[in-house]
Amino acid sequence: MNKIITLIPGDGIGPEISESLKSIFAAAGVPISFETENAGTDVYEKTGELIPESLYKSMEKNRVAIKGPIATPIGKGFRSINVYLRKKYDLYSNIRPCRNLPGVKTRFENVDIVIFRENTEGIYIGEEKYEDEGKTSAIAIKRITEKGCHRIIKSAFEYAKNNNLDKVTVVHKANILKLTDGLFLETARKISEGYPKITLEETIIDNMCMQLVSRPEKYKVIVTMNLYGDILSDLVAGLVGGLGIAPGANIGDDIAIFEAVHGSAPDIAGQNKANPLALILSGIEMLKYINLHEYAEKIEKAVLKTLEVSDVKTADLGGIATTTEFTDKIIENL
Ligand code: NAI
Repeated sequence: MNKIITLIPGDGIGPEISESLKSIFAAAGVPISFETENAGTDVYEKTGELIPESLYKSMEKNRVAIKGPIATPIGKGFRSINVYLRKKYDLYSNIRPCRNLPGVKTRFENVDIVIFRENTEGIYIGEEKYEDEGKTSAIAIKRITEKGCHRIIKSAFEYAKNNNLDKVTVVHKANILKLTDGLFLETARKISEGYPKITLEETIIDNMCMQLVSRPEKYKVIVTMNLYGDILSDLVAGLVGGLGIAPGANIGDDIAIFEAVHGSAPDIAGQNKANPLALILSGIEMLKYINLHEYAEKIEKAVLKTLEVSDVKTADLGGIATTTEFTDKIIENL
């Protein structure tokens, strides 16, 4: 029987890029079935719920989901639906691979970086308060735990080991944040002792930004806390051609949500202009996660061929093709 995957199309361009993903997977004969459950603005307008109960049930039954972008309406009880789902299912590893793709012109070559961002702690816990009645001073709490540091750093080292990479770069600001970032850095030092063939490189966040826009080819695996990871992963996406081609994964111990990094792109929604690649590349990562490597490779080859030898590209990649034309070309190349 086919494995069932929860598909959350999302808002804006989400439904268009989800259709693209579904038709490519169907054409490649991937032995999975999608169970579609939506969340976000569209669902709220129809049902009054931002995340329906049926979505939670589907996620908890299937354990693997792929998701389009979701816009969180302001003032509807959630800071962010995306952050909420990551926290609810303890999806502590946010993994964002970024590499140069053929036919996508950029200023840099040989970029091939995977960022491991801690996904549940840090300043993202959103605990803020005013310090006085006049609201002239506000503070935010940054929470870092040894458990939280350990599991994300361990994932990064395991990835490096499994991919024969000899360096992991830990990014921090422990010179200023001695307790929180200090704990992250100390944990990285302890874990690295268990991996004698992998060098631990320690880099301060500001220097990391400068290094990445000067010599990105030096980096392979970066591991860092929530906010630094958020910023660095968009920076690295920019190095290789932008958000339209940046895949992502949120992985916990036994539930995972794969998603495009970009948002719902309201400026181009419904116009058949969106680049579906970020979601398709996320889908390829998902196929590897569920051990359907053969299909992952097949779709990846078709995508690379489409970019390399054809001029059928969406506008964000400098082409004039629609989402459907681009999708059809990938299917032709399967
Ligand atoms: P955005 O990523 O939606 O758009 C930024 C720019 O990139 C726009 O010009 C857009 O047209 C372009 N773009 C993004 N994806 C594209 C694609 N696949 N193909 C071609 N062009 C693409 O960011 P923005 O405007 O800041 O956010 C819009 C909404 O999305 C907000 O409500 C935000 O909360 C939500 N959002 C959701 C995310 C998620 O679900 N993971 C992540 C980021 C934002």
